[in-house]
Amino acid sequence: MTVFEIEAAPLPEVVTSLAESMRRHYPTSRALLIPLLMECQKHYGWISPEVAMGVAKLLDVPYGEVQSCISFYTMLHTKPTGRYIIGVCRTLNCALEGALELLHHFEHKYGVEATEVTADGNFMAYEVECLCDCHNAPSIQWLKAGQGAGNQTEFKPYWVNNVTLELFDRILDELSGKIKTPEGFDPLAERLVRIVEKENPPDNRRWCWLVTTNCQYPVVVEQKDGEFHVDDGYGKLAGLKERNPFLWKEIQEGLRK
Ligand code: FES
Repeated sequence: MTVFEIEAAPLPEVVTSLAESMRRHYPTSRALLIPLLMECQKHYGWISPEVAMGVAKLLDVPYGEVQSCISFYTMLHTKPTGRYIIGVCRTLNCALEGALELLHHFEHKYGVEATEVTADGNFMAYEVECLCDCHNAPSIQWLKAGQGAGNQTEFKPYWVNNVTLELFDRILDELSGKIKTPEGFDPLAERLVRIVEKENPPDNRRWCWLVTTNCQYPVVVEQKDGEFHVDDGYGKLAGLKERNPFLWKEIQEGLRK
C-alpha cells in the first residue's frame, strides 16, 4: 500500500478531546504526537497506518513524521499484540542476570520470534531498554490488555523482577490457564522468589533477605502465635496477610523450611 492509498481513520473522541485540551500547553502541534499516539494505542491496542494517518491529519504534520516517531519508540506497536505485552529489559544489569535467556526460552516455548504474537493470542514478548529497576534484575514489564469503555483496550502495567526461568515459565502457564490457580490469585501480583538467610546479622535475631518479584527486603523475622512476622523497618510489609494473602503464605512456607 502506498501512502496515497492510506485513508485516515476517524479518531475516537478520547483522542480528539485530548488533543484539544493539551494543544494550548504546547508550542507546536507536533509536540502532541507522543501523547496522542499513546492514547490511540490504549484505545486500539496498536497503531495501524490508518490511525497514524488520522493523527497526522489531526495535528497537521506529515504522515512520514508520524511514522518516524512510531518506529523510533519501541513501546508504540504497529501490529496487534495479544493479551499480554511482555517487555524484557535487555540493558546491562538485566542482560547479565539472564534476561535474554528468558526471552529465548519464551521464543522456544511458543515457536515465535520477538514481537510475534503466540498462536493462542495470549502473549507478545520483545526486548526493551532499562526499566529503571536495575537492582532487581532481571526486570520484566507486563502490560495486560483489558476492556475499558466502548471498544477501548487499556493496558495495565505490572513489573515482575528478580525472576528466575522457572518462575517466568510458571507465570506464563498460569496466565494461559495451563496451570490452574486459586480463586483471586493474580499471577502477576508480587510473589516470592527466594529467601536468603543473612550471613552476618547485626544481632542475634533472625535476619533474612526476602526477594520478591517487586523488591528485595532485608527483614527481621520473629515467630509469634505460630506465624512468622517479618519487619523491614519501613513498614512495607505491614498488613501483607490481608493485602496479599498468597505472598504471605509463600513467605510463611519459605521461612518454615
Ligand atoms: S538494566 Fe534492566 S531495569 Fe535497568
